[in-house]
Amino acid sequence: MGQKLFVAACLVLISLVWPGRWAKAAGPEPQQAAVSPPNTSTANADQFVGADTCETCHGDIAKKFADNPHSRLALEHGGVTCESCHGPGKAHVDAGGDATKIFQFSKASPRVVTQKCLTCHAGAHPNFEHTAHGENNVDCTSCHSIHKSVTETSLLIQSQPKLCYGCHTDIKPAFAQPFHHKVDEGLMTCSDCHDPHGTFKGTLQKPGTMLHNGPGGYEVCVKCHTEAAGPFVYPHPVIQTEGCGGCHYPHGSPNPRLLTRNNVNSLCLECHTASMKFTAPGIPSFHNQATQYQACTVCHSQIHGSNSDFVFFK
Ligand code: HEC
Ligand code: HEC
Ligand code: HEC
Ligand code: HEC
Ligand code: HEC
Ligand code: HEC
Ligand code: HEC
Ligand code: HEC
Ligand code: HEC
Ligand code: HEC
Repeated sequence: MGQKLFVAACLVLISLVWPGRWAKAAGPEPQQAAVSPPNTSTANADQFVGADTCETCHGDIAKKFADNPHSRLALEHGGVTCESCHGPGKAHVDAGGDATKIFQFSKASPRVVTQKCLTCHAGAHPNFEHTAHGENNVDCTSCHSIHKSVTETSLLIQSQPKLCYGCHTDIKPAFAQPFHHKVDEGLMTCSDCHDPHGTFKGTLQKPGTMLHNGPGGYEVCVKCHTEAAGPFVYPHPVIQTEGCGGCHYPHGSPNPRLLTRNNVNSLCLECHTASMKFTAPGIPSFHNQATQYQACTVCHSQIHGSNSDFVFFK
C-alpha cells in the first residue's frame, strides 16, 4: 500500500517536472525515473526521511544544493532531492550517519554510477554506455560533480578544454600547432565538435569519434563552414568520398588552412597524377610537373566546388 502510494506520487511528480526533451524516456519506464532507491525490493515511502532531515547534519551540502540546477524544479514541485540520488536515508539516519547505510557514489562502480544518473538522463544521453567513454569505465562523475562543480553550467569538475586534456594528453599538441582551431584560446570547445556522451558518428577515416556529425562524415564542419558545403553544380567529389578529412586535419596542423600536406600541389597530385588526362588538348602542359610551379589553387581557387565552372576557377 505504501509502495503504491509512493509510485503514484512519483508519477505525479514526473508529469510535473519532466522536461519535454526527456519525453522519449518518459514513455517506457517512467516510474523508475524520478526516484531510484539503491535496493528497490525493500524500498518504500517510509524509508525516505526528506531533505530537511539530511540538512540537519549535512548543512553545508544542503545549503549549496539550493543553487544546484537539480533544485531548480525541486523548488517549485519538490522534484529532485537528496534521496532521489542517494536513495532512502532512514537506515543511515537511524544509525546516526553510518556511511555504509546509504548509497555512496564514491564507492560505487562506474557502471552503477552511470546507471544512477541515467535513470533520469537516459532520454538526452541514450547512447552513453555504448560509447568509447561508457565502455572504458569513464562514468558521469568523471566529468560532472553534483556538489563540487567548478563551472556555472553543466556541473563540470573542470572547464573545457582542461577537462578533456586531463585524460587526452595526446590531443593537446595538435592544438599547439601553428594553425589550429582556437580551442585553447577559449573561442571554441571540444564539445562544439564532439559529444562526450556519444553519438555513433565519426568521420570516414575514424568512425566512433563521437562527433556531432551526419551520414556524410563532414556535417559537423559544415555547420560553421557553410560556404564549403555546397550543394554545388560542380562539386569536388572528394568531399563526398573522403569528407573534409581528405585534405584537412580537424584539430591543428603545421600547414596553413589546416591542410594535411605542407605543399598544396603534392596534396592535389596524390589523386590528380600526371597520368590523368593532363595531356589532353587544352590542358596546360605545366600540370605534369606542377610542384615546381604556382599553387594549383591559384587557378583552381574554388576548391570545394563551384556553381559556374567545372574546373573550379570561379
Ligand atoms: C544524524 C546526522 C545525519 C543525518 C540526518 C544524515 N547524515 Fe549523512 N552522514 C552523516 C555522517 C556522520 C556521515 C559520515 C561522514 C563521514 O564518514 O565522513 C554521513 C555520510 C553520508 C554520506 C556518505 C559520504 C561519503 O563519504 O560518500 C552520504 C551520501 C550521506 N551521508 C547522505 C545523507 C543523506 C542523503 C541524508 C538524508 C537522507 C543524510 N545523509 C542524513 C550524518 C548524517
Ligand atoms: C543529482 C544527484 C544527487 C543529488 C540530488 C544529491 N547528491 Fe549528494 N552526491 C551525489 C554525487 C554524484 C556525489 C559524489 C561527489 C560529487 O559528485 O559531488 C555525492 C556526494 C555526497 C556526499 C559525500 C560527500 C562528498 O562531497 O563527496 C554527501 C554527504 C552528499 N552527497 C549528501 C547529499 C545531500 C545532503 C543532498 C541533498 C541536499 C544530496 N547529496 C543530493 C549526487 C547527488
Ligand atoms: C567525458 C566527459 C563527460 C562525461 C563522461 C559525461 N558528461 Fe555530461 N557533459 C559534459 C560536457 C563537457 C558537457 C557540456 C556540453 C556543452 O556545453 O556542450 C556536459 C553536459 C551535460 C548535461 C547538460 C547538457 C545536456 O547535454 O543535456 C547533462 C544533463 C549531462 N552532461 C549529463 C551527463 C550524464 C547523465 C552523464 C553519464 C551518463 C554524463 N553527462 C557524462 C561532459 C561529460
Ligand atoms: C531524479 C532524477 C535525476 C537524477 C537521478 C539525476 N539528475 Fe541530473 N538533472 C535532473 C533534473 C530534473 C535536472 C534539471 C533539468 C533542467 O533544468 O532542464 C538535471 C540537470 C542536470 C545537469 C544540467 C545542469 C545544467 O547546467 O543545466 C547535469 C549536468 C546533470 N543533471 C547531471 C547529473 C548527474 C551526473 C547525475 C548522476 C550523479 C544526475 N544528474 C542524476 C534530474 C536528475
Ligand atoms: C576521465 C578520463 C576522460 C575524460 C575526462 C575525457 N575522456 Fe575522452 N576518452 C577517455 C577514454 C578512456 C577513452 C577510450 C580510450 C581511448 O580511445 O582513448 C576516451 C575516448 C574518447 C574519444 C574517442 C576516441 C577514439 O579514438 O575513438 C573522444 C572523441 C573523446 N574521448 C573525447 C573527449 C572529450 C571531448 C572530452 C572532454 C569533454 C573527454 N573525452 C574527456 C577518457 C576520458
Ligand atoms: C573542429 C572540430 C573538432 C574540435 C574542436 C575537436 N575535435 Fe577531436 N576530432 C574531430 C574530428 C573530425 C575527429 C576525427 C579525426 C579524423 O577523422 O582524423 C576527431 C578525433 C578526436 C579523437 C580521436 C583520436 C584522434 O586523434 O583522432 C579524440 C580523442 C579527440 N578528437 C579529442 C578532442 C579533444 C580533447 C578536443 C578538445 C581539446 C577536440 N577533440 C576538439 C573534430 C574536432
Ligand atoms: C563551432 C564552429 C566550427 C566548427 C564546428 C568547425 N570550425 Fe573550422 N573554423 C572555425 C573558426 C571560427 C575558424 C577561424 C578562426 C580560427 O583561426 O580558429 C576556423 C578555421 C578553419 C580552417 C582554417 C581557415 C583559414 O582561413 O585558415 C579550416 C580549414 C577549418 N576551420 C576546417 C574545419 C573542419 C575540417 C571542421 C570539421 C572537422 C571544422 N572546421 C569545424 C569554426 C569552426
Ligand atoms: C580536395 C581537398 C579539400 C577538401 C576535401 C576540403 N578542403 Fe577545405 N580547402 C582545401 C584547400 C586546398 C584550401 C586552401 C585554399 C586556398 O588556399 O585558397 C581549403 C580551404 C578551406 C578553408 C579556408 C577558407 C577557404 O574557403 O579558403 C576552410 C574553412 C575549409 N577549407 C573548410 C573545409 C571543409 C569544412 C571541408 C569539408 C566540407 C573541406 N574544407 C574539404 C582543400 C580541401
Ligand atoms: C582524394 C583525392 C583528391 C584530391 C586530394 C584532390 N582531388 Fe580533385 N578531384 C578528385 C576527383 C575524384 C575528381 C573528379 C574527377 C572526375 O570526375 O573525373 C576531382 C575533380 C577535380 C577537378 C575538376 C575537373 C574534373 O576532372 O572533374 C579539379 C579542377 C580538381 N579536382 C582539382 C584539384 C586540386 C587543385 C586539388 C588540390 C587542392 C585536388 N583536386 C585534390 C579527387 C581529388
Ligand atoms: C595557371 C593556372 C593553372 C594552374 C596553376 C593549375 N591548373 Fe589545372 N587547369 C588549368 C586550365 C586552364 C585547365 C583546363 C580547363 C578547361 O579545360 O577548361 C585545367 C584543368 C585541370 C583539371 C581538369 C583536367 C581534365 O582532365 O579535365 C584538373 C584535374 C587540374 N587542372 C588539376 C590541377 C592541379 C592538380 C594543379 C596543381 C598541380 C593545377 N591544376 C594547376 C589551369 C591551371
